[in-house]
Amino acid sequence: MIETSTPTVIQLPHIFDSLGSLGIIQGAELLPFQVNRVYFIHSVSEGAVRGSHAHKKLQQLIFAASGSFDLILNDGEKSLEFQLHDPTIAVQVPRGYWRTLHNFSADAVCMVLASTAYDESDYIRDYDEFLRWRKS
Ligand code: TYD
Repeated sequence: MIETSTPTVIQLPHIFDSLGSLGIIQGAELLPFQVNRVYFIHSVSEGAVRGSHAHKKLQQLIFAASGSFDLILNDGEKSLEFQLHDPTIAVQVPRGYWRTLHNFSADAVCMVLASTAYDESDYIRDYDEFLRWRKS
């Protein structure tokens, strides 16, 4: 059985003042991994479902910088669902979770901080293969 840690909801520090809000993601005390890549998803087609894959090693921090979407994380046995709509709340996604993102609002911006550079060989894109990998 593949060992993974548990997805965690993280409160992102913000400075709120009369000018607006400034969010900060900094330091090992906030994130258990070093950030080596940042990417973001926006202008999502209406009704689109993104993700539908797992990563063998990659760790990520995911949050809605704008708008809203739902993130489902599945460990091969049970699912956790997160409704992301607040830029001060992020989900830390450990390796080894099948993720699905859906219900994107038209203005949604999904920010992803990732532990490694893009590597297609780290993806598992077939759910049955994912189940076999989790049991291995
Ligand atoms: P994918 O991770 O499948 O997107 P999502 O999970 O949001 O549905 O990536 C979509 C495409 O973009 C795929 O062809 C791989 C490519 N891609 C990169 O080239 N670099 C990256 O950092 C990412 C995340 C994806």
